[in-house]
Amino acid sequence: MAKFDPGIKAMNQLTVNDIRKTATPIVCLTAYTAQIARLVDPHVDLILVGDSLGMALYGFDTTLPVTLDMMIAHGAAVVRSASHAVVAVDMPYGSYESSPEQALQNAQRVMRESGCAAVKLEGGAEMAATIRHLTQNGVPVMGHIGLMPQSVEKMGGYKIQGKDADSVTRLHTDAQAVAEAGAFCIVIEGTIESVARDISAVSTVPTIGIGASAACDGQVLVINDLLGLTPKPPRFAKRYAELAPVISDAVSAYAKDVRARRFPAPEHVFGKKNA
Ligand code: KIV
Repeated sequence: MAKFDPGIKAMNQLTVNDIRKTATPIVCLTAYTAQIARLVDPHVDLILVGDSLGMALYGFDTTLPVTLDMMIAHGAAVVRSASHAVVAVDMPYGSYESSPEQALQNAQRVMRESGCAAVKLEGGAEMAATIRHLTQNGVPVMGHIGLMPQSVEKMGGYKIQGKDADSVTRLHTDAQAVAEAGAFCIVIEGTIESVARDISAVSTVPTIGIGASAACDGQVLVINDLLGLTPKPPRFAKRYAELAPVISDAVSAYAKDVRARRFPAPEHVFGKKNA
């Protein structure tokens, strides 16, 4: 696979330190392809090449089948199209849990081959040693606690976190451990509002919520949910557009034109007078 060529970055390229220090709400969105990244980049602070691409692009039921090669290929495509936002790439299931050494080797590969600025990995206190090992070796890390889709089997489904005292205590411990280990920000997914608010109030690094209320320091959504491309989006995901019927109508019109021999018209044909 071709190595990333950094090229010339724009003057207003944000860095992980800008994200760590910002006082304004952090705008984060997923992107998986060059075209979408180009449209997203000017408007957001952080682009996450999430392993949600397993569902959004590949038609998997969960994120578990996503591979390191997929993340690198999509990460590189996004990096090539982003000149403003920080690009972070998800470490997929099985690529970092075995040991801090395994995580570093794979995270360095993701950074080297995609050109991304940071990686994200799921896990709380149990991943603190790994996060520390990565950050001490020059790999910026975005944490991810709360509902962790890679642990869907272990968690017994996509369940809201923070509903009982044990869960609340664990979430606080996780957030503190991940921040102390050196993460520059922490995604909090699928937790009740009061927990997200309390963690955000004391966290030494910004929190980025998804299904965790407006009490976080920033928000992230899956782009397909926002654009109306997900058949059954989660309740927390606001649809800012309804692109599915737009695409369906366009394809239907094309199919009708081809069948009626209306397309291609003279203006689409080489060698015709007005081509
Ligand atoms: O994979 C992903 O897109 C994510 C976000 C939902 C935070 O992890």
